[in-house]
Parts: sequence; structure tokens; C-alpha cells
Amino acid sequence: MADNGKTFGTAAKRWEGIGPYYAMFPIRFADAVIKEYTAEGETVLDPFAGRGTAIFSAAALGRRGIGIEISPVGWVYAKAKLCPAPLVQVEERLLEIADADGKYAVQARSLPKFFKKCFSPSVRRFLLAARARLDWRRCICDRTLMAILLVYLHGKEGQALSNQMRQAKAMSPHYAIKWWAENESKPPNLDAVEFMQQRIRWRYAKGVVEANGSRVYLGNSTALLPQLAQRVRKEGVPKAKLLLTSPPYFGVTNYHYDQWLRLWLLGFETDAYVARGPYQGRFTHPDRYKSLLKKIFGRAAKLVTDDAVIYVRTSNDPFTKQATLDAMLEAFPGKRLIERRRPFRKPTQTHLFGDKTPKPGEVDLVLMADGRGRRNR
Ligand SMILES: C[S@@+](CC[C@H](N)C(=O)[O-])C[C@H]1O[C@@H](n2cnc3c(N)ncnc32)[C@H](O)[C@@H]1O
Repeated sequence: MADNGKTFGTAAKRWEGIGPYYAMFPIRFADAVIKEYTAEGETVLDPFAGRGTAIFSAAALGRRGIGIEISPVGWVYAKAKLCPAPLVQVEERLLEIADADGKYAVQARSLPKFFKKCFSPSVRRFLLAARARLDWRRCICDRTLMAILLVYLHGKEGQALSNQMRQAKAMSPHYAIKWWAENESKPPNLDAVEFMQQRIRWRYAKGVVEANGSRVYLGNSTALLPQLAQRVRKEGVPKAKLLLTSPPYFGVTNYHYDQWLRLWLLGFETDAYVARGPYQGRFTHPDRYKSLLKKIFGRAAKLVTDDAVIYVRTSNDPFTKQATLDAMLEAFPGKRLIERRRPFRKPTQTHLFGDKTPKPGEVDLVLMADGRGRRNR
């Protein structure tokens, strides 16, 4: 398996990479922040959990991670890597799905042109069987298989089930069809079961990571944070010592459009261009954006200890940064602010799509009680 020069000698290193997701934290960054500001057994909260990088990192480091994510793609990744089913069950389920794929031959022939240019006929039948039969919301085994399938649904030639495509963001159907035609690129003729078996076994080869009581919930943080706060009050569940998160950046990416093909495999619309619910598009309305940040940080404040560190990575674009700062200062008054600039050193994803304008880079906004420093200093 190609490892891009990285080493994959532990279970954490094999599972942490699930899966490709726009604006995800670098894993070493999440590890470093968690080690600096929490001790083993303490709780880390992420109300914009994405693919669960911070939550998984917390679990792997012996902390308890609690996350909320509104995108089903991010949630499936996060939940599956925190709590994967046993390997034998996942392999058996893969074979069951493959055995059923004959029932999807007619449907595979009537899919829109994009799918015919993207996947070979046998891969299309296999994906349709997975789409119809995997109960990823309720069943641990089905969710684990689905998460690994989502990782390899599209990507570079030879490394994915699809015709040549970027792995992090799905191309738009019209653009993809044109690009494949111009580049004479064809869907790979591979055996989906063999392809997936190798990748599933590789993932499990060093074992799995203990969840340490970590959880990630699917839904809207504005509604779920108050429910969690109620549990903290009633059941004495410990509050978080660290809030580590990264909200969506204002107007930067469209969370539905980037993931439309993976959302399709999860059973949603076949269309890249439909608008999904609130907080699942591009975040372009200034007042709604500010209000979302205020609600979520305000509600998260009830779930963290008085001396908690609030660590937020965001865009250094003035509007996003100011809106984030305003929401943080309102929700967590009386703490000291530290700003750490994080300029982009590599081209961003939009650069790859032809956008050469200078980028504002990122910034870490950290709030902590006066007198509180880094653990290891
Ligand atoms: C910048 S990404 C976070 C990425 C994450 N740090 C990771 O490593 O994968 C922001 C995330 O916030 C999620 N989100 C936006 N609005 C939300 C809401 N109201 N409730 C929960 N999650 C939300 C988006 O779907 C997106 O996954």
C-alpha cells in the first residue's frame, strides 16, 4: 500500500487518516494541542468535529473526546474510526454486499452519464448494492465498511474505485465528464471486492484504538450542545478541560458540493447542485454566520470547566477572524487571548482548481485563564 513516505506502525496511525475531508486538522497539530493542555483522562470537546481528528486524537492519547458534526460524511468517518467493528464481520459484510450486486444491474445501467464515466459497470453495481444495503446510521459493521468505502470512492488513478479524480473534493459532474474526455481517462476495470479487501486488512493490521469513552454525535451543535449540557448537570459527566475546534470559514467552501459523491453513496440525492439543510453549504450570509458562532460557543461554554483552554483554528481573513473572536470573547469572558498566525506554506485546495489569488492563511485563537500556561513548560 502506498504510504507517501509516512510510517504506519501503530493502530492510531492506520486509523487516524480516515478519511479525506476539506479543512481537516493536521493530525500532529491536534496531538500537540491535546498533549499541551490536557492530562490523561480529561475531556476534549469539538462542536465542529468534521472527520473527528481532534476526537480521535484525544482517544488515542488516553483522553475522552466528545464531538458533534452535522455532515454525515464527517460523522461516518469519525464514528467508524473511534469504534470500528471486528475485521471478520466487516469482511463478511463486504462479501454479502458483493453477492447482492446482481440485483442492481438495471439500476446501474440507468444511472446518469457521470456515473458511467466515473465507475466501471461492475463497480457501479457494487456501489449501488452498498448504497441500498449498508445501514450506516445504526449498524457498527455497516458503518465501518461504509467509512472505508468512502475513503476510496474517488481519488488518484489506481488508488480509488473511480476514474481519475481528486480525493478530498468531488469534481462537479459537468467538469469531470469534460476533463475525462479531454484526457481520455477511463474508469478503472478493477475487482471491487479484492480492492477493498486489501485496504480493509491493511487498516486493521496493527489493531484498533480504544475509544476511552469518546463519542461523536451526528447533528447540529446548536441543538445537541444543550442536550449534552443537561447530561453533564444530571449525570455528573465531567466537563471538558479543552475546547479544540475549527468552525467553517466564511464563504470558503461548500460542504455539500465538495462531498456530493460521498453523500450520494450514503443514500442522498444523485445531484451535486442541490442545496442541503442549513449549515451544510458555503456559509455566505454574514449575520447568520455570526449568529451560528455565537450560539455554538455560547452553548459550548456550559460544557467546559472554568479553567478550560479554548483553542480555535480559523481563517485569518478579517471577517471570519473577527466573527470568531467576538463569539469566543462573549462566551468565555475574562480569559487571556493569544494569537498564533499560521500562514499557508503549501498551495491550498482552491489553488489546484485554478485560484491563484493570495490567501489570508490561518490563525489560532487561544483563550486561557491568566497564569495558565502550557503543561510541559
Ligand atoms: C473546518 S471543518 C472542521 C474540520 C475538523 N477540524 C477536522 O479535522 O475534520 C468545520 C465543520 O463544522 C461542521 N459544522 C458546520 N455547522 C455545524 C453545526 N451547526 N453543527 C455541527 N457541525 C457543524 C461542518 O460540517 C464541518 O465539518
